[in-house]
Amino acid sequence: QIARRVEALLKQMTLGEKIGQLVQYNDQGFSATTADGNKALAANPETKTRVDAMQLAREGRLGSMLNVIGAEKTRAFQEAAVHSRLHIPILFGADVIHGYRTIYPVPLGLAASWDTRLVEDVSHMSATEATTAGVKWFYSPMVDISRDARWGRSTEGAGEDPYLGSAMARAYVRGYQGSDLSKPDSVAASVKHFAAYGAAEAGREYNTTDMSDIRLRQVYLPPYKAAVEAGAATMMSSFNALNGVPATANPYLMDEILRKEWGFDSFVVSDYTAVMELNNHGIALDAAAATEKALKAGVEVDMMSHFYDTQIPKLLAEHRLSMATVDEAVRRVLRVKFALGLFEHPYAQGVEVTHAVPGHRPLVRRAAEESFVLLRNAPVGSKAVLPLREGVKSVALIGPLADASNEMQGAWGGGTQAPDVVTLRQALERRMQQRGGHLLFAQGTDIDGDSTAGFDAALQAARQADVVVMALGESSAMSGEAGSRAHLDLPGNQQQLLEQVAATGKPVVLLVFSGRPLVLDWAARHVPAIMAVWFPGTEAGNALANVLFGDVAPSGKLPMSFPRAVGQEPLYYNQFPTGRPPGAADLSRPPAGDTRFVSRYIDVPNDALFPFGYGLSYSSFAYSDVHVSRRTLPVAEANRPDARPLLTVTATLTNTGGREATEVAQLYVRNLGASVEQPVRSLKGFQRVTLKPGESRQLRFELGFPELSFYDVRSRQVVEPTHYTVWVGGSSQATEQAEFDVTR
Ligand code: IFM
Repeated sequence: QIARRVEALLKQMTLGEKIGQLVQYNDQGFSATTADGNKALAANPETKTRVDAMQLAREGRLGSMLNVIGAEKTRAFQEAAVHSRLHIPILFGADVIHGYRTIYPVPLGLAASWDTRLVEDVSHMSATEATTAGVKWFYSPMVDISRDARWGRSTEGAGEDPYLGSAMARAYVRGYQGSDLSKPDSVAASVKHFAAYGAAEAGREYNTTDMSDIRLRQVYLPPYKAAVEAGAATMMSSFNALNGVPATANPYLMDEILRKEWGFDSFVVSDYTAVMELNNHGIALDAAAATEKALKAGVEVDMMSHFYDTQIPKLLAEHRLSMATVDEAVRRVLRVKFALGLFEHPYAQGVEVTHAVPGHRPLVRRAAEESFVLLRNAPVGSKAVLPLREGVKSVALIGPLADASNEMQGAWGGGTQAPDVVTLRQALERRMQQRGGHLLFAQGTDIDGDSTAGFDAALQAARQADVVVMALGESSAMSGEAGSRAHLDLPGNQQQLLEQVAATGKPVVLLVFSGRPLVLDWAARHVPAIMAVWFPGTEAGNALANVLFGDVAPSGKLPMSFPRAVGQEPLYYNQFPTGRPPGAADLSRPPAGDTRFVSRYIDVPNDALFPFGYGLSYSSFAYSDVHVSRRTLPVAEANRPDARPLLTVTATLTNTGGREATEVAQLYVRNLGASVEQPVRSLKGFQRVTLKPGESRQLRFELGFPELSFYDVRSRQVVEPTHYTVWVGGSSQATEQAEFDVTR
């Protein structure tokens, strides 16, 4: 049906109308100023220096638009488009990555929940909000694996692990697209950034990436593939070069892998001016060459470069491009528009959502609560600091993130309205009043400040209080796109403030707001309670209060390793062994004997300060009885991708603490004896389990070909006869294990 409609339309389209489907502008159109740092190119006489987006829409020559916010604005452009000759609607895309108006935690925080159902629910919720403003396409999920906390965009993804990243990728796609893309509240996902953007060298934004095919396929590609298998409607190419070829002109990525191997039959949109940037990469000397390379590699839509519209006619005339290539690109775009039901319903649906929706608050509050990771909770006296006890009558709240409503949303949280946000100060004030106590507040310093003028008031507040809660960390703008940092400490003079407050001797609870792992080495030794809270979103304050006062027990687990020092980056748990342990062979083992000529730093241990998968609860959990259903598995049987499960792993999880709580149980696998070195361990399963005090549950994990296989030197996914160890536990340092062999 859709195919027939596409062909019928295609037959009627002029070249100008076809090219129109392949270009994307924002409401400013294109000019030297929208060309984003590429002014010289924007002024290039080869490309017209101005594009009026509204005029293009009227002429039926504008296929999609980005970040046009508000139903009135989208309606104006859409009206122009649907009144054009062929009435083809515009597809409106936006960077809705963790909520439209009601904001939930940044994706890295959401990943810390390890709760795929939750991710699906919040994603669907944001689709229901954005579609009321006419947005039918999200530039999300970002599924780039990030193992380097210096990279600012770590905040937009699910962290360092391909298995967790794949689970999250599927959940986002399901949440956005639902079971039927044509439903009024469904949006098309744009999985980004294809590919390996997260491996940017030295964590520096837009930087080059270079890696083996094994690493690419084993670590970086799985989440994109998972999203494609979940039916992702579109893909976005990335800014970086991979092994010398910019992703936006990379036929190996887009043609070989995405199209041929994975069977992706939809369209790829470039990142912002990425086609133009092929000139800067030095692989295309002019606009025509850049267009030719990108289009032929498989980028169908040009976001903001103003190259496709100016260069395609020329390339066709010079026979450097065939009409068949252009037609195929247009087909892919039209298919998505038909699938979305845009021809039938081109306009915003329902009543426009312009503020956080009251009915969505409980869901985003729960998302925030589940995202918090309790990193440390040491006793002061006979009891742990958290949750705050009944006897706590005065709390000093200190820090630049305590009352900063405009900082709670994190990167790409632009659609939120600051007054909708509940800050920690607001929530704690209410709570302390209800308890008959009081809150003392002092900002202390600015996020990136160097003035100590506010220190005295902060210290005075601390001295008067039973407990101090410090809200420290990064600003929203310190992570996200172009938010790379070479230092991962608390910014400005916040560390100084923390040390002085801790020196008062009052129990301190440190809440770390950030879009990435930070170096918390000093705090881990001197501050009794530390919780990573990311950027929690609209319900930040209420969610934090619920956890601080113990209404909810924290259950988050780290999706990225927290380093001891920035020099350890990139740092990830699933590293490869070295010939000279204790490198990666056992990260938890301290160096012994003559330790000079081994893989280690001389000034800092190898392992993470807080490892991947780690997170504490207000209760405690024990793992026991790890069993594998078979001791041996013939290799021929193991190499059947469809046979599932090949083995099951069972274990017992017991809540050994005093309250009901949720634990994220994790399964790790290692195989020894393969033709290619394998990571010291890799996550291959997880589940969230809620248990009452004293309650036990048998956990069951399934292992099949995807979990047991790896890529060999010829890039084939295989299982070889090797020895496997499995661990089940509450972090990547799980110790309860069992073994089995894959036999010849
Ligand atoms: O979607 C984003 C992308 O992730 C980074 N560059 C800009 C795009 C559109 O805003």
